[in-house]
Amino acid sequence: MTATRPPAARPGEGAAAGAVAGGAATAGGARARAGLPAPERWLRRTRLVKPVVWALLLIPVARLAWGAYADALGANPIEKIEDVTGRWALRILLLSLAVTPLRRLTGWNAVVRYRRLLGLFAFFYATMHLSTYIGLDMFFDVGDIVEDVTERLWITIGMATFLLLLPLAVTSTTGWIRRLGGARWNRLHRLAYAAGVGGVLHYFLAVKKDVTQPLLLALVLAVLLGLRWRWKRGSRRPEGRTARIAPRQ
Ligand code: HEM
Repeated sequence: MTATRPPAARPGEGAAAGAVAGGAATAGGARARAGLPAPERWLRRTRLVKPVVWALLLIPVARLAWGAYADALGANPIEKIEDVTGRWALRILLLSLAVTPLRRLTGWNAVVRYRRLLGLFAFFYATMHLSTYIGLDMFFDVGDIVEDVTERLWITIGMATFLLLLPLAVTSTTGWIRRLGGARWNRLHRLAYAAGVGGVLHYFLAVKKDVTQPLLLALVLAVLLGLRWRWKRGSRRPEGRTARIAPRQ
């Protein structure tokens, strides 16, 4: 791999995007940006790029809102809302997991500034997904919900996945990073990978016919997990061996 290796993970790397990984959007930032590759230069313009990312991430919910207003959600609008919110929760979660690999492969360090936003949007869609299920699908019937969660494996997995996302969303603030300390915060946020696995499993079991989409997402997740495993193994190598296998650096 010829890409520049970014420094080791900082406390809460990327989570409190602006506060922790930031620093470049200050006075003199333009000068500091001058020698950087174009994508990195653009990614550092958070004031410009963040609204665009927000707008893109809001498109699915805006389309749903428009569909509901125009009565264009199809024959089963509740299922449509569940499907769209569930799919986007998972896609955005996987996107957030792709941030670190992208950073390591390309050297675009500023990409971490968008990770918290992605994680929180994944949680937002998962919450919409769960609310639709509880309110519109189950009419807040606690008995029915408990029965569903305990008797249908894929619903159990969905619920477990949501519960994994919950502490990640709560502790995504700079205050929580400080309170937990970088190492503990990073360890806790590894739960995002487990949530990815849970989300993909839930998707597999939820779809009745065509499994192309869940398969694709499973493949993406496998690549992300594979890269993580490889890098972790690499970082555990004894000094001597590392030196032998990394002569290009
Ligand atoms: C909180 C507990 C959860 C419950 C009760 C739940 C329930 C459901 C239900 C009822 C469906 C609709 C299945 C159908 O089309 O008939 C569904 C689909 C789905 N859910 Fe969940 N879910 C939960 C959590 C999650 C989470 C956390 C994610 C993602 C990270 C997720 C992703 C999906 C996906 C991708 C689908 C399939 C959409 C499709 O068919 O295209 N779910 N879920």
